[in-house]
Amino acid sequence: MPNTIMVLNGPNLNMLGSREPETYGTLTLPEIGSMAKDHAKTLGYDTDFRQSNHEGTLVDWIQEGGDGACGIILNAGAYTHTSIAIRDAIAAIKTPVIEVHLSNVFAREEFRHHSYISDVAKGVICGFGASGYVLAIDAIASMLRVK
Ligand code: DQA
Repeated sequence: MPNTIMVLNGPNLNMLGSREPETYGTLTLPEIGSMAKDHAKTLGYDTDFRQSNHEGTLVDWIQEGGDGACGIILNAGAYTHTSIAIRDAIAAIKTPVIEVHLSNVFAREEFRHHSYISDVAKGVICGFGASGYVLAIDAIASMLRVK
């Protein structure tokens, strides 16, 4: 069983820090990455933290996580609301996927209320800012403990 939690970030999340800070907070993605890494380490896990603006790359990484990760945390950004390809990639693997959003997508525009990912994910965490990544690590760790 691999000991690595993959943390995948989709389009525009590389802009965190300067991107709409009133919605997404002021932490940069590398700062969130090191927060996730430090927290995972306390639970005995490594993280593999990545970001891409490209749908197909995210699909490749999800497939990779199907073999190489014990869990996947996925903030697919806007692809959450559009991508059947990402949904199919999640459905094709056994590795549990936790969907994460920094913002509370349900308190925002209607087009953000639908996710192609939620019903194939193990669970969804949204609205807690960067802490959502830490909560998702806890969720994966406790899921794996119970198994
Ligand atoms: C987001 C929410 C999405 O609706 C949006 O397109 C993003 C970020 C979030 O983390 O709150 O890019 O996934």
